Amino acid sequence: MTANIIDGKQIAADIRNELKHEVSALKQKGITPGLGVILVGEDPASKSYVTAKERACEEIGLYSDDYRLPRETTQADLITLVKKMNADPKINGILVQLPLPKHINESDVLMAIDPAKDVDGFHPVSVGKMMIGEKAFLPCTPHGVIKLLERSGVKTEGAHVVVVGRSNIVGKPVANLLFQKKKNANATVTICHTGTKDLSYFTKQADIIIAATGKPNTITADMVKNGVVIIDVGVNRIEDTSKKSGFRLVGDVDFEALKGKASLITPVPGGVGPMTITMLLFNTVESAKMANRI
Ligand code: GUN
Repeated sequence: MTANIIDGKQIAADIRNELKHEVSALKQKGITPGLGVILVGEDPASKSYVTAKERACEEIGLYSDDYRLPRETTQADLITLVKKMNADPKINGILVQLPLPKHINESDVLMAIDPAKDVDGFHPVSVGKMMIGEKAFLPCTPHGVIKLLERSGVKTEGAHVVVVGRSNIVGKPVANLLFQKKKNANATVTICHTGTKDLSYFTKQADIIIAATGKPNTITADMVKNGVVIIDVGVNRIEDTSKKSGFRLVGDVDFEALKGKASLITPVPGGVGPMTITMLLFNTVESAKMANRI
């Protein structure tokens, strides 16, 4: 791998290895951390994420309880299942894969998850605690971004970070984590979004860019300064008839052009993606430790 490419796969593998050791030590105390995973419907991207999450649990020795429910599942039935998992001592973390079908109110479902098992960090209690800097389950993708920066030796203290995108899952929480007065944070953060008039005015000033727009080529080489650090959170499927699957994955930035200008950059795939699942495992192990007062 070229020197300036951040190898998310390797960093994720290192953390998973550390977690594996932690899980085996917990098992010797009779504790097996468990994750409950719920997928509703047939969305192909969601299916592949959920399969990857289940495999990752197996790889580090976690117990997982997996439910794949039909698209027609009612909100009431889904909430009943969540409540069953809330009460199940074998389950330390609950993950309801998003997006949910249109007839289900996502917020109502997320609110039904016991905050003590909210390993996705999406419950308003977790979001509120994170916002005021209290200990909470941190959402997995933003937490993964912070870990990638930390383990790649990128100093965020005093840096100007430009976050592009304001979603509840990535943009808002990653911006929030980065401006906290804490280690591996303490940055000056600008949040750009679809209402930003001149995106490149801001990105040209950035020491670190976090792209989470859901659109390929949002950031091009003429929009950044030399030596910038780029974290690409995007996962976009582009039609590619040369592939068996008929598509290939690209991020939100023009990787080929930017890799010659950035001091560090994450690839897609193999950058942020493996970290998201890793931080889910991390939160599940933390939750099991908390439930057992360790
Ligand atoms: N859909 C896209 N990303 C995520 C995630 O991190 N967690 C869940 N539950 N659903 C998602």
